[in-house]
Amino acid sequence: MENMIEIKNLCKEYRGEGETVHVLENLDMIVKDGTISSVEGASGVGKSTLLNIIGTIDSATSGQLHIGGQEVSSMSSSSQESMRAHMIGFIFQHHYLLPDFTVLENVMMPMMIQRRPTSYCREEAMKALTQVGLEHRFQHYPSQISGGEMARSGVARALVGGHKLILADEPTGNLDKNNSDRLADLIWQLQSELKFTLLIVTHDRDLAERVPFRYRLVAGKLQPFS
Ligand SMILES: Nc1ncnc2c1ncn2[C@@H]1O[C@H](COP(=O)(O)OP(=O)(O)OP(=O)(O)O)[C@@H](O)[C@H]1O
Ligand SMILES: [Mg+2]
Repeated sequence: MENMIEIKNLCKEYRGEGETVHVLENLDMIVKDGTISSVEGASGVGKSTLLNIIGTIDSATSGQLHIGGQEVSSMSSSSQESMRAHMIGFIFQHHYLLPDFTVLENVMMPMMIQRRPTSYCREEAMKALTQVGLEHRFQHYPSQISGGEMARSGVARALVGGHKLILADEPTGNLDKNNSDRLADLIWQLQSELKFTLLIVTHDRDLAERVPFRYRLVAGKLQPFS
């Protein structure tokens, strides 16, 4: 099995007025292709920072990051953008659906960014929304759907465009227990069909308990969860 994510000696620090905050310190991580892993840990410990660096929407202070065998830190920003658009889907706690676009248009967006033909984007978005049980909500706006439906739209948007790596930051953070369980069932079912690599940051113990490869972020490094 190939490695989807390979991290060596990753450091991230914030230099402020006074002291420097070391968030990640010589962190190493390997995530195998097609697996589900989680990063847990206290609030403020650096989980989102790590996820954003892996997603190439933030950059490390030093260290090496390989995604799908490609060294990210030495890539130009335009190659990084193209790699991100083709490889990586994001699921966020607050979903970030664009309010002025319908659910269907929101899910078409990542493929439009990949410059695919509009008719293709529409078809694939309809397929993904049907997979998450939202075939009756294509023309609704985000303000016209429920929290659970927004979460499912966010999952559909992450899945389209052939993304091989899905990064999820507190995907169930906004949902009640019933909706969290249903969302997790859905994500697991889609993962077993599509075999993408999934990395989840979460505080949700019920969600984490389903995860085969669990890590805890402590003092800038990952520990296997025991
Ligand atoms: N732009 C910034 N400048 C300075 N410090 C920052 C900046 N962004 C994040 N931090 C600090 O980095 C640390 C890690 O933040 P991060 O958001 O990764 O935590 P987290 O583990 O995701 O927390 P939570 O569980 O609350 O979401 C925090 O202490 C935060 O204050
Ligand atoms: Mg966070």
